[in-house]
Amino acid sequence: MTDFASLLVPDRGQAARPIHLVDKESFGDWVKKRPAEDRALLEAMRFDGKSAQDFAVLPRGSEFEVVSAVKDLAALSPWCLAALAEKLPEGTYKLAEGEPRAAALGWLLAQHRFDAYRSAKKDAERGPRILVTGEAAKIDTAVRLAEATALVRDLVNTPAADLGPAELERAASDLAKRSAAQLRVTSGIDLQEGYPLIAAVGAAATPERAPRLIELEWGKPDDPRVAIVGKGVCFDTGGLDLKPASGMRIMKKDMGGAAHALALAQLIIENRLPVRLHLLVPAVENAVSGAAYRPGDIVKSRKGLFVEIDNTDAEGRLVLADALTKAAEGEPELIVNFATLTGAARVALGPDLPATFVNRDDLAAELEQAARETEDPLWRLPLWDAYDDNLKSDVADIANAPASPMAGAIYAALFLRRFVPSEISWAHLDTWAWRDAQKPGRPKGGEALGLRAVFAAFERRYLQR
Ligand code: BES
Ligand code: ZN
Ligand code: ZN
Repeated sequence: MTDFASLLVPDRGQAARPIHLVDKESFGDWVKKRPAEDRALLEAMRFDGKSAQDFAVLPRGSEFEVVSAVKDLAALSPWCLAALAEKLPEGTYKLAEGEPRAAALGWLLAQHRFDAYRSAKKDAERGPRILVTGEAAKIDTAVRLAEATALVRDLVNTPAADLGPAELERAASDLAKRSAAQLRVTSGIDLQEGYPLIAAVGAAATPERAPRLIELEWGKPDDPRVAIVGKGVCFDTGGLDLKPASGMRIMKKDMGGAAHALALAQLIIENRLPVRLHLLVPAVENAVSGAAYRPGDIVKSRKGLFVEIDNTDAEGRLVLADALTKAAEGEPELIVNFATLTGAARVALGPDLPATFVNRDDLAAELEQAARETEDPLWRLPLWDAYDDNLKSDVADIANAPASPMAGAIYAALFLRRFVPSEISWAHLDTWAWRDAQKPGRPKGGEALGLRAVFAAFERRYLQR
């Protein structure tokens, strides 16, 4: 893992190249006060402070200063320094005016690479770009957020062959060891008896990739109990309802919900939020073999509801159903789950906006506000009661997919809701966990989407009460 803490360091008066940030309002006044050579250079380069992420280098003998345009100086975006951190040469830098605040995150993440599978490391020849800050107290926060985001990216990017249920378990046990948390893993016969849906979905996998429920508990007994659940489908072939090649291509990312849940747990623990945390990751591979569960099979869930399998590709809601049931048994005041649950959520909202389903308006408002403040957007979709009827089965209590091809994200959420007692506040994030096109500080591939928003909402809820 990138050593983020070495890239954001306290100001001890060390030599640092100044970075001047300007926006389209401030540029005119700022440029007037510059030496004549700077003005001439910026004019020659047509640098006018208007297009964010644009930057120019101002020579000072054999050294240089930097000027970079941002959208809004008063509210720095987390990504406004990312292009700089990507492109500047190694060395130490410092904002000439003000502090990086939220933008420290992009500075850090721009220097993270997933290069475990490259024989020639792309960035090897270039040294670190270090940012100096006068707000030493905020360094840890930024470093932890960068680490959590990088954890999601790395877990999602790791090929399914190298990241199965056992490796997800390993990631959780690493976190448990670091933080004196308790880890419990249920597999084999105990899984079949206690979590029949998780066992059914994972039945086709080879023994080394056997299904399991991974749980981690942390915190003081008297603090409010919260549960975090993440869909850990390490590869989704669709099962016997096999996906076409195009649909299967990036299904290594189908454990993206689990990666988000682990990263959120890590943030909660490292920042010592006063909660009693219960993390649950149902980890499976939705594979194909003679042992695979079938369309038309009926499985009695942990909750007791009989579920008819209409489609083996709607497996995420099945493993989550048993995990949510277990989470509810602990009587938490809040459950949040993350899942790469439906293609329909992407059709509705595109790749950048996790669809969010919430059974309480106040919790939805908290999440929306946190999403705005952290620039980690979420968008609420309805748990539309009237559609609930369409989850009926001819022979069982409920089917895992509706007959209708429409509103797929809503049906998946309504299915999950059947397993969450209405007294418990609950948010379900149907996230893509993936970036299809790179942006500064955000390479193509695995991505944390909704993580910072949910963590910020947790901080508000539990630090300020
Ligand atoms: N993992 C997929 C959802 C998915 C698909 C996420 C594409 C990201 C990209 C999920 O298990 C799935 O296959 N869902 C089906 C449900 C359907 C069979 C009711 C879907 O969305 O098509
Ligand atoms: Zn599926
Ligand atoms: Zn899936």
